[in-house]
Amino acid sequence: MSVAMDPDTFAEIVRLVRDFAGLAFGPDKRYLFESRLRPVLHRHGLASFRELRDALARGQRELRVAVVQALVTHETSFFRDRPVFDHLERRVLPDLAECRNGRIRIWSAATSTGQEAWTLAIVADRLARARPGARCEIVASDLSEAALAKAREGRYSTFEVQRGLTARELVEYFERDGEAWRVREGLRNRVRFLRHNLLDAPDPLGPPFDLVLLRNVLIYMDAPTRDRVLGHVVRALAPAGCLLVGTSELLPPGSPFRREGEVAGLYRRETTGRQESAARSVPRPAVDGLHRPVGGLTARLR
Ligand SMILES: C[S@@+](CC[C@H](N)C(=O)[O-])C[C@H]1O[C@@H](n2cnc3c(N)ncnc32)[C@H](O)[C@@H]1O
Repeated sequence: MSVAMDPDTFAEIVRLVRDFAGLAFGPDKRYLFESRLRPVLHRHGLASFRELRDALARGQRELRVAVVQALVTHETSFFRDRPVFDHLERRVLPDLAECRNGRIRIWSAATSTGQEAWTLAIVADRLARARPGARCEIVASDLSEAALAKAREGRYSTFEVQRGLTARELVEYFERDGEAWRVREGLRNRVRFLRHNLLDAPDPLGPPFDLVLLRNVLIYMDAPTRDRVLGHVVRALAPAGCLLVGTSELLPPGSPFRREGEVAGLYRRETTGRQESAARSVPRPAVDGLHRPVGGLTARLR
């Protein structure tokens, strides 16, 4: 079996990965591709990287997902950059609850293995206790099915829960499950996990969101892809809704967002005055209603 990747095959696979996942890799990544994709060859019974390239070009979905999973990092943790979540809890969500009749829709896009989504669920639970009537609906998505399977299971090793959770949060929101920890029942129905490719239009995700978290994923994309993804986020956000990117990520000049306060990575969608007042008076359906799948949801997810 040929285990080396020639430069042309590498360039072609890079192009395919950019086309279907929006991820950009430089010419220095050939050896990374070889080492990460070799196990994919074995698992899928392919004899060479050329065969892999040809199968990807034919659009084999399962193989595409396997390749993206092998190439991207799923690095994440609970309360990653805690000051940001403190600010969400103290300022952003109470303000949103105030102008949205207590109903807030949040999208954790590129959620990885779920720590970000469960963090939001903890914050939402505390918000609901502090402000009776405030309810958050959380939709969490990722391209990787393996990451989503773990997110849905909500089961984490001791090492993983120690990365970000306080002892109090751990005891309150998780229970022991053998050697691991599992999200408690009370939190489980607060998050809905879906497979979604950020390159696709966000329409299947349902009504507009008041807050979108798009953290630590834009950095892997080239400029045209970032613009495309941000365009989808604008479409997914309610007028004057907020966007949170990673603390080291900056939105390009000219994007329709303005920095919001002092917190790194927090932006607000720019609106006209009319949109702003419409956003404040927008009637919100009951959260239970929002939880229902929107027409064709499953069918339309790729
Ligand atoms: C580094 S993790 C970030 C996780 C989390 N947002 C955080 O900041 O802790 C990046 C995630 O982006 C996902 N991803 C990469 N490209 C994607 C795409 N085109 N659509 C959806 N998710 C994507 C990966 O599967 C991975 O789980």
